[in-house]
Amino acid sequence: MKAVMWCSILWKLMAFSLLLSKCQAENRVTVDRPRNLQIIDPGHLGQLYIHWNLPASLENQTECPVRFQLQFFDTYEDDWTTIRTTQQSYLAQFDLEQNVHVRVQTMLGGPCTNGSGEVLSLPAEVLLKPLAVGSSDSKIKDLSCVFYQREYMDCIWEKGNEEPPKVTYHLYFWHKGMEMAMECPIYLQSHGYRSGCRFLWDSLIEFTEFNICVNGSSSGALSQPAYFSMQIQNHVKPGAIDTLTLETHGDSFILLEWTPPKGRIPNDCLEFEVESRPESMEGLTVRNITTEPSFNISSPGQYNGLCFRIRSRVHILCSDDSFWSEWSHPSCMPESPDYFHIWTQPVVLCVLAIAVIIFFSFSVCCLLYRKVLKTKQRKSGALFG
Ligand SMILES: *[C@@H]1O[C@H](CO)[C@@H](O)[C@H](O)[C@H]1NC(C)=O
Ligand SMILES: *[C@@H]1O[C@H](CO)[C@@H](O)[C@H](O)[C@H]1NC(C)=O
Ligand SMILES: *[C@@H]1O[C@H](CO)[C@@H](O)[C@H](O)[C@H]1NC(C)=O
Ligand SMILES: *[C@@H]1O[C@H](CO)[C@@H](O)[C@H](O)[C@H]1NC(C)=O
Ligand SMILES: *[C@@H]1O[C@H](CO)[C@@H](O)[C@H](O)[C@H]1NC(C)=O
Repeated sequence: MKAVMWCSILWKLMAFSLLLSKCQAENRVTVDRPRNLQIIDPGHLGQLYIHWNLPASLENQTECPVRFQLQFFDTYEDDWTTIRTTQQSYLAQFDLEQNVHVRVQTMLGGPCTNGSGEVLSLPAEVLLKPLAVGSSDSKIKDLSCVFYQREYMDCIWEKGNEEPPKVTYHLYFWHKGMEMAMECPIYLQSHGYRSGCRFLWDSLIEFTEFNICVNGSSSGALSQPAYFSMQIQNHVKPGAIDTLTLETHGDSFILLEWTPPKGRIPNDCLEFEVESRPESMEGLTVRNITTEPSFNISSPGQYNGLCFRIRSRVHILCSDDSFWSEWSHPSCMPESPDYFHIWTQPVVLCVLAIAVIIFFSFSVCCLLYRKVLKTKQRKSGALFG
């Protein structure tokens, strides 16, 4: 019994060592990892320059192709990104509030690998941790940027939970084509502190990363910097539509027409949402989307009246995302007089007030006159009575 067991163990060991030697034979070719892997921050608020060198052992070889496999942890996607390149540098966008983790491997192919395809080296790795400045509660919150009519962009933030006393916030921005980050051109104030920044369109650029850093300082303490990166064509909000006309054609159809909102958004980048609501509150509110600046509603006769309003946003063909504009003022058909509206008009109110005053003064006058008349009558009665 024991002999059988020993035999089996021996057999397994032999098989294992055979496997091991086979593996070693196949992996005989090894490649050195890249040298001098560095991450350089040129002050672009998140765009980092990654640089490395060929391993010394491959410096003078020319017969075999060499590539590099670069991997970095993309904190925006929460996943590793892999890139293969023959270059020895790469530019990538990082969130500087998070760890920056990069690794690079050498890949050797061709005859140098003894027919085992492309061989990967062990990785060269760098991990950068964010600088510890201020407490995390001192960081600003909820930065939101809206690019109004594509004419100017306002970025608004909330104070940190625990801001240093008398803090002054600073916003810096950078985009492609700028040599270095610049400070906000126009600060917006609220409740006596800087709560936002306004950019005019000529300092903005679309379809590329727009990086923002908001930090703060006060006498003594610093607030932790907050970093943001966005593509600003995705933050456009068109203006509200202010010209909406209705044209009834009996009971057969109503034609709605409007002028696209003012601003710098090309008209063929806009889409419109038409909301139709029966005035009687019975029946459904319907919303239709169109790219034309007009809309045809057939057989409106089934409703006693319909009210419409329009809003717009940037079409998906022009940007991945956008904000809806505000709604236009509603227009109704048939145009029923809006009594409540009429009664609240200031002119009507004035006229009413004057009428009431005149009426009261008149009645008071009448009363007084009658009193005077009566006393006079009594007096004359006493004289002649
Ligand atoms: C590569 O060539 C240069 C000059 O020809 C020499 O100085 C260097 O030592 C060589 N490197 C290797 C790894 O052989
Ligand atoms: C390639 O394989 C042969 C035999 O399998 C071996 O003699 C030679 O040393 C190997 N070359 C390299 C670069 O490992
Ligand atoms: C805020 O950030 C900018 C850009 O990175 C930097 O130049 C500036 O010194 C920082 N200010 C403070 C008070 O940390
Ligand atoms: C508007 O939307 C409603 C409901 O989705 C649909 O029944 C109707 O046909 C649409 N009208 C037009 C003109 O597209
Ligand atoms: C609107 O629709 C009606 C029928 O649904 C059609 O007769 C009419 O010509 C259309 N008008 C326009 C301007 O498209």
